[in-house]
Amino acid sequence: MRAAPADSSPTGSPHLLRPHAEQAYADELAALAAADTRQRPPSWRLSPWAVVTYLLGGELDDGTVVSAKYIGSRRLVEVAVATLATDRALLLLGSPGTAKTWLSEHLAAAISGDSTLVVQGTAGTSEDAVRYGWNYARLIAEGPSPAALVPSPVMRAMTTGSVARVEELTRMGAEVQDALITVLSEKTLPIPELSSEVQAVAGFTVIATANDRDRGVNEMSSALRRRFNTVVLPLPASEDAEVEIVTRRVAEIGRSLALPDEPPPVDEVRRVVRIFRELRAGVTGDGRTTLKSPTATLSTAEAISVITGGMTLATHFGDGRLGAEDIAAGLLGAVIKDPSTDPVVWREYLEGVVRDRASWADLYRACRDLEEDGALASPGGA
Ligand SMILES: Nc1ncnc2c1ncn2[C@@H]1O[C@H](COP(=O)(O)OP(=O)(O)OP(=O)(O)O)[C@@H](O)[C@H]1O
Ligand SMILES: [Mg+2]
Repeated sequence: MRAAPADSSPTGSPHLLRPHAEQAYADELAALAAADTRQRPPSWRLSPWAVVTYLLGGELDDGTVVSAKYIGSRRLVEVAVATLATDRALLLLGSPGTAKTWLSEHLAAAISGDSTLVVQGTAGTSEDAVRYGWNYARLIAEGPSPAALVPSPVMRAMTTGSVARVEELTRMGAEVQDALITVLSEKTLPIPELSSEVQAVAGFTVIATANDRDRGVNEMSSALRRRFNTVVLPLPASEDAEVEIVTRRVAEIGRSLALPDEPPPVDEVRRVVRIFRELRAGVTGDGRTTLKSPTATLSTAEAISVITGGMTLATHFGDGRLGAEDIAAGLLGAVIKDPSTDPVVWREYLEGVVRDRASWADLYRACRDLEEDGALASPGGA
């Protein structure tokens, strides 16, 4: 049972900080299900076509507008959805902040109506997280019994024919990854203690995500790798695409934070995106100046938080309009992650690039002001 939140929205329903995809987009999912006359694979709530429409957005015959969740290549999304309609699992691979988790959640919501069957991969994830555990009080009192068994999210997905999600697959130890192999190849989970097993219902599949920057990605056994179709999520191809992603996501997040219902000014978004892309690429947009890259990834996800943070500052402590002084602090915080090397990278960029751009004088000033306030001098403090 979910605990009742203390706060309620004006409509009377609880104001969740972050509703699951299937809650946030329940209306769109219902409209798609009603309009969807195509064939659905066993246990799927929607046809593959409707799942792709849910992810990429579109307009239905009844006039319902479906918002775009993922902004990027249609083919790539189609391949991901088609994979899930076969008996192969899906591995979403890519740099940090390329929407792997985001896409996985929305795929599970659209296909199974439930994105909550998640195993979080860490070095400490045990096999129980993939198989099952026990309620020890009952186990001691009654011995092994079905009632004492605590199913893992994977086991629950198998019994209901749903999508199980495995986050950060390559951070899990080899023995946990191996436990997945049996599940994915045999579609069966043995329970020796009860002399029984769970057989997967049609519709069961796994979506895993992995970060290609993580050490460990190459250690995934070839046996496990063979069970997955891999889809690599790219960084946004162009500045315009990245500006669009940031603008849309900030507007959505802003609504949930009850910020004024206004999209962020596109010029400010473009500035942050350009800075991130230039530092990421190690060269300015015009190709003239080579730059040092900071240790941080500077992903789209971080651009989203710099703008959201700036909007919050502008709303509560500024004139309500996002300006250079609202984004400067967030920018510095995003770029400077390693206090020994990153301040040098940032200063070179500030003096060598930002200062020379005539229309960026306000940003240069705001960053210098922060520096004078000691933002670069005491990196350990932030
Ligand atoms: N192409 C895109 N379309 C829509 N949203 C995007 C896109 N790229 C990034 N985002 C946004 O970036 C944010 C972060 O994405 P997410 O957390 O899924 O990244 P990730 O790839 O799982 O990163 P990590 O490797 O750090 O786990 C999300 O809010 C998502 O909406
Ligand atoms: Mg992720």
